[in-house]
Amino acid sequence: MSNDQDLWTTVDRYVTDQLAPADEALAAALAESTAAGLPEIAVAPNQGKFLNLLVTMQGARNVLEIGTLGGYSTIWLARALPADGRLVTLEYSPAHADVARSNLARAGLDKIVEVRTGAALDTLPLLEEEGAGPFDFVFIDADKVNNPHYVSWALKLSRPGTVIVVDNVVRNGRVATPDPDDPAITGTREMYELIAREPRLDATALQTVGTKGYDGLLIARVLG
Ligand code: SAH
Ligand code: DHB
Ligand code: MG
Repeated sequence: MSNDQDLWTTVDRYVTDQLAPADEALAAALAESTAAGLPEIAVAPNQGKFLNLLVTMQGARNVLEIGTLGGYSTIWLARALPADGRLVTLEYSPAHADVARSNLARAGLDKIVEVRTGAALDTLPLLEEEGAGPFDFVFIDADKVNNPHYVSWALKLSRPGTVIVVDNVVRNGRVATPDPDDPAITGTREMYELIAREPRLDATALQTVGTKGYDGLLIARVLG
């Protein structure tokens, strides 16, 4: 680890201790995810809190998440919803979905959150057929190669004013350089290009450093 990484981690810990401390459900969600062998790629605590604040500021009642893992980001998102709110989260891996369901039940969020298993490109059309949208807030954090498709689906399931957030849009700075050998970078760059030419979306991205290294979050707003 570089000294920069050590400093970013120290500062993230300070910020998190002050403003985004873990409670029992959040700590257990991470511990049980690790115990089940899930990769340790959930958003950082202060990023989870940031998502929670965005959902609150949006006044969202209907949230879509693509990429559940063990439900850690899901807990932060769902805690911003009113009692009659709803969150649908899409997860490819049945094993990840099982861990998430258990973590969400422990957090008391199983009435609000539905974890749907399957490849998101298969389950998104089903959501559309059911008339599940429009969603007020969409968090995209799954397989990066499909990011352009996920943004297109988020737009399809949106309304004017919907907020779309995409995780991992900087990837150690690699996003700025085309890399035909890395489908995740190619997919993310295609997503930026799609958003840039989409007149219904207004967007920016912010670089982030912290416990998760150097990465970034994109935020987009659906125009009328
Ligand atoms: N949002 C989570 C982290 C998600 S990690 C958090 O911050 O806590 C990415 C997740 O996307 C993994 O669980 C992976 O299994 C899932 N995933 C990968 N490909 C997918 C696909 N095609 N459809 C849905 N989920 C997918
Ligand atoms: C990876 C995926 C993520 O969603 C993340 O936040 C970090 C890493 C990955 O697939 O490597
Ligand atoms: Mg991520």
